[in-house]
Amino acid sequence: MCGIVGYTGKNSALAPVLEGLRRLEYRGYDSAGIALTLEAGLPLWVEKRAGKLGNLEETLDQGVPTSHSGIGHTRWATHGGPTDTNAHPHLDNDGKLALIHNGIIENYVELRLALEAKGHHFKSETDTESVVHLLSDARKEHGGDLAAAMRQVCAQLRGSFTLLAIHSDDPERIVGARRNSPLVVGVGDGENFLASDVSAFISHTKRALELGQDEVVDITPTKITITDLAGNTLPPNEYEISWDASAAERGGFSHFMLKEIYEQPKAIADTLIGRMSGLDSSITSGLELVNINKVVIIACGTAYHAGLVGKYAIEKWAGLPVEVEFASEYRYREPYVDAATLVIPISQSGETMDTLMAMRYAKSHGAQVFSVCNTNGSTIPRESDAVLYTFAGPEIAVASTKAFATQLVAMYLIALHLGTVRGLLSPEFLAQIGDELAELPGKVEQVLETVEPLRELTRKFKDSTSMLFLGRHVGFPTALEGALKLKELAYMHAEGFPGGELKHGPIALIDEGTPVVAVMPTGNALLTEKMASNVQEVKARGAVVIAISDVDVPAATHLIRIPTTHEFLQPVLSVVPLQVIAYEMAVARGNDVDQPRNLAKSVTVE
Ligand code: F6R
Repeated sequence: MCGIVGYTGKNSALAPVLEGLRRLEYRGYDSAGIALTLEAGLPLWVEKRAGKLGNLEETLDQGVPTSHSGIGHTRWATHGGPTDTNAHPHLDNDGKLALIHNGIIENYVELRLALEAKGHHFKSETDTESVVHLLSDARKEHGGDLAAAMRQVCAQLRGSFTLLAIHSDDPERIVGARRNSPLVVGVGDGENFLASDVSAFISHTKRALELGQDEVVDITPTKITITDLAGNTLPPNEYEISWDASAAERGGFSHFMLKEIYEQPKAIADTLIGRMSGLDSSITSGLELVNINKVVIIACGTAYHAGLVGKYAIEKWAGLPVEVEFASEYRYREPYVDAATLVIPISQSGETMDTLMAMRYAKSHGAQVFSVCNTNGSTIPRESDAVLYTFAGPEIAVASTKAFATQLVAMYLIALHLGTVRGLLSPEFLAQIGDELAELPGKVEQVLETVEPLRELTRKFKDSTSMLFLGRHVGFPTALEGALKLKELAYMHAEGFPGGELKHGPIALIDEGTPVVAVMPTGNALLTEKMASNVQEVKARGAVVIAISDVDVPAATHLIRIPTTHEFLQPVLSVVPLQVIAYEMAVARGNDVDQPRNLAKSVTVE
């Protein structure tokens, strides 16, 4: 959801704010806006435009006054359509206070009615505008102290928010706050930054500070003060960002997604380093695993598909029952959960609101939480009893690829760890699976070397209205992931089915020329045969079948050959051609690959 950036320092603010917005545009791209402070007493300089950041940048060609402090916002609309007026920043009625916001203010209607009754005049349809009016009054009550005003206002808000505010009378100061929505501080030399994530300021500093729930941060070029809502000063929690600016750039690839597909071997290798012979106690010390009797995996979208694969591995290797739940459904059905339940939230961003809320529900009912996350310092790992970080590096394209690959690896590592703790795995098996895991990066490289013909082939189906994906066992979640990728990127109807379900309804969708992707690596002879029959069945009804397999599939129309690996590890290899199909289809249909319509990378609202 919306991207937020703030800069105050010795340099001109415009360049770092724009650079930050460019790097955060993956979070939302319905509209963008900037507010800059000038000298004390001069009015704020504000520009905002509906549409992508490029629209805003075009207006800046007409000249921008020099400023050393400013805030910028890129929006994913929730309340109020993507118009110039609804774009952030929003101003108070004096035009002196500017505010940007990510999240949803749930009590904005009652606040708005009360503020209008007091004479405040609203311009937009957003929930955010209530906050700027409230903040304006609170600042006056606190004699111009913006941080004190922010604390008071946050205590009045319900919902989720990251807020940044500036005031024209105090041009070097930016005040921010967060609840259930991300905000990090970048610590520079004579300059400081605030942003939704570290990629916004990574080319300027590698020093970052975490902010906790309901904390307010007040920055000037030389000072950073963090307080709770009661005004108590809190010690900074500093960490070093482990990747550099080039990791957040396209590096010669036409799109971030393509770059990220090709980064998968490294992401997998980085996630495996030091963990193949077991997870060490620095990761698992917060957990008491011996007495657990059930595992619940909670996640959304692609991460949910990684969880489905994890279920197969944990049930088989650790002998525990596993439920995989859509995080958005979990807490609302009030599921049974107790201290013997291990909950595993999976999240690339670590900020997905549905996952966070489901995890909090489970924790409040006594469950232990062992999260899988790609983003250091984010909320989900901070609130977990233990975390297994994936090392995919920054994933900028909205559609998840390398994060998925590393989430799969994390699920295998957790399944093996649980099986080991429960004494169920022999040293021979652990050695064998360890070897197979170690070979995954090289095998993904091999897949990437052979997908070129698939790019050409995919373009042939550019005008198809629908594409189906079939798989069995762990091939089924892989098929679901292939269908999700295609929907997101190609805006094409796509569905994934277990091969065996076909005859129970979906086969009616098959028509002359319908493209069907069959995920059918070998490993389980019985299932291989059954998938081969499914291929025959759809082909007999006119389907064009693209098989993804490590052996010949005579009935298929086209074959994408992938290397052989352990049956459970196959999704790591077989998903790669599916990602390439979705990528190529999006390009062929002229879609925006990295920023597909209606989506945002980090879904921080429920
Ligand atoms: C799909 C995709 C989404 C995310 C989902 C969860 O390509 O990216 O389905 O997987 O929104 O996001 P995280 O992993 O950040 O919790």
